[in-house]
Formats: sequence, C-alpha cells, structure tokens
Amino acid sequence: MTTRPDKLRVAASFSRAAGTYDSVAQLQRDVGRQLLWYLPLHLKPERWLDLGCGTGFFSRALADWYPQGEGIAVDIAEGMLQHARQAGGVQAFVAGDAERLPLRDGSCDLIFSSLALQWCADFAAVLGEAQRVLRPGGVLAFSSLCVGTLQELRDSWQAVDGFVHVNRFRGVEDYQALCAASGLQVERLQVRAHRLHYPDLRNLTHSLKALGAHNLNAGRPAGLTGRARLRALADAYEQRRQPEGLPCTYQVIYGVLQKEPRA
Ligand SMILES: C[S@@+](CC[C@H](N)C(=O)[O-])C[C@H]1O[C@@H](n2cnc3c(N)ncnc32)[C@H](O)[C@@H]1O
Repeated sequence: MTTRPDKLRVAASFSRAAGTYDSVAQLQRDVGRQLLWYLPLHLKPERWLDLGCGTGFFSRALADWYPQGEGIAVDIAEGMLQHARQAGGVQAFVAGDAERLPLRDGSCDLIFSSLALQWCADFAAVLGEAQRVLRPGGVLAFSSLCVGTLQELRDSWQAVDGFVHVNRFRGVEDYQALCAASGLQVERLQVRAHRLHYPDLRNLTHSLKALGAHNLNAGRPAGLTGRARLRALADAYEQRRQPEGLPCTYQVIYGVLQKEPRA
C-alpha cells in the first residue's frame, strides 16, 4: 500500500485552488462527463450524492439529469464547498470525508464521485461507506486515478534528483481487489488513458497548482525548487516532447458498482 497525503493537507490545497480550478479543469470535465454516461439508464434516484464535488460542476449536471431527486454535494475542502454553494443548484452542501460519510445507513440511491477518491488512503473504507449509505439496488459510480498518472513528470524528476515529486496513485490491481471484496456488485471497472499536451513545463506545473493537485505526498523534499533544478527538469521533460507538445498522461479508472437489490 502506498502512502497518500494527509486529509488536512488535501483539504487546504483544494480550498486554496477553489478560485482557479474551473479554468484548468478540462480533463476533469471530460472524465466526469464520461462517468455520467456510464450511469445506468434505468436509475431514478430519490436522493443522490456528489462525493468530492469540488466546485460543483457535476452536482449541477446531476441536478439537471435527476430533477425529481434530492441532491447532496459533499467535499472535504470547505473552500470548494463555499464555491459550489455560491453557484447553487443543489439541495444541500455538506462538509465530509468519503471515508466517514455524514449520512444515515441506506439513505441514498446514487453516489457519484469523479476524480476525488484517489485522495483517500483507505479505499476499502470508502467502499464500506458506500455499501452502508446506499439503499438496496443503489449505485456507486466513480472515476479515479491509477499508477501511471503523471508518469512523464515522475520520470523527468527521477532523472534530475531521484526524489518523488509527484503524487503516488493506487495500482489497478488494488482497485480490482478492493472492489471485488466490497460486497457491492461490480458492473464496470475499466481503465482509460487520457493524454493532455502542454506547450511547456511552466504551463503544466501551473495547471497542477491551479487544480490543487500538485505534489501533496508526505516526505516530499522541502524548500524551494531551485532554478537550476527546474532547468534540469525542463530539459529532461523536453526529451519526451511530441508534435502536439509535452505529454501528460492520466490513467483513469471508471467504476460502476451496485448494492444488491432487496430479494
Ligand atoms: C480533482 S477535484 C474533483 C472535483 C469534482 N468532482 C470535479 O470532477 O470537478 C477533487 C475533489 O475531491 C475532494 N476530496 C479529496 N479528498 C476527499 C475526501 N476524503 N472526502 C471528500 N472529498 C474529498 C477535494 O477537496 C476536491 O474538491
């Protein structure tokens, strides 16, 4: 099991990024839209949850999809919730942790969570909470990040100083094993690579910071990143340049799991 950043640091980083997130969230939009399309067509949730709602873009999309249902947007970062609250469109905005949901047993028909659960160290606890909070027949639909995400940046740093400057992500086989053991029925679990291109390294690191998703690992090297090291990093990344620009790969896992309907 790899170490993931602690919750306070994650919440603070995303709270700081709330004002810039939407301007650089193209990949997050594409992934969330894909996840919406994976939702079972028959689903008519009376109550749904957008878990790790961020600025609330997909909370509002879900409210449009399910106008008859009651929506709850949950996030661990108060700054993100404030931002989402201003845009409205959802019945409730609640501060909470995916590993300890502030909801009653059997109270939801759908948990939608796009690109948030990679920040949870205990994915088994997340699945346990989904199992607890969903009604029989309810659905958990999530997208998350796997090993191989930001690999080009990781490899470039490795060439410079051997440190892990990039967030660590769970392996696909861990997702598979944990979902299989969750007690929920796995309807879909598939990985898709998404690749972005940036004109230069500055652009790429600026985007990660604006998303709140720059390196949050414990044990990361302290202090400012020196000019010489950044130069060396840019040179190492340049080796990977493609005709479209500097590549940046995200390995996205999409999961749709269902709680057994009542017999
Ligand atoms: C990359 S953003 C995605 C936001 C939104 N779902 C979207 O697709 O635009 C990840 C969000 O997950 C939230 N998050 C991280 N860890 C969480 C946890 N343990 N419980 C709830 N939310 C969490 C962060 O605060 C952040 O707002």
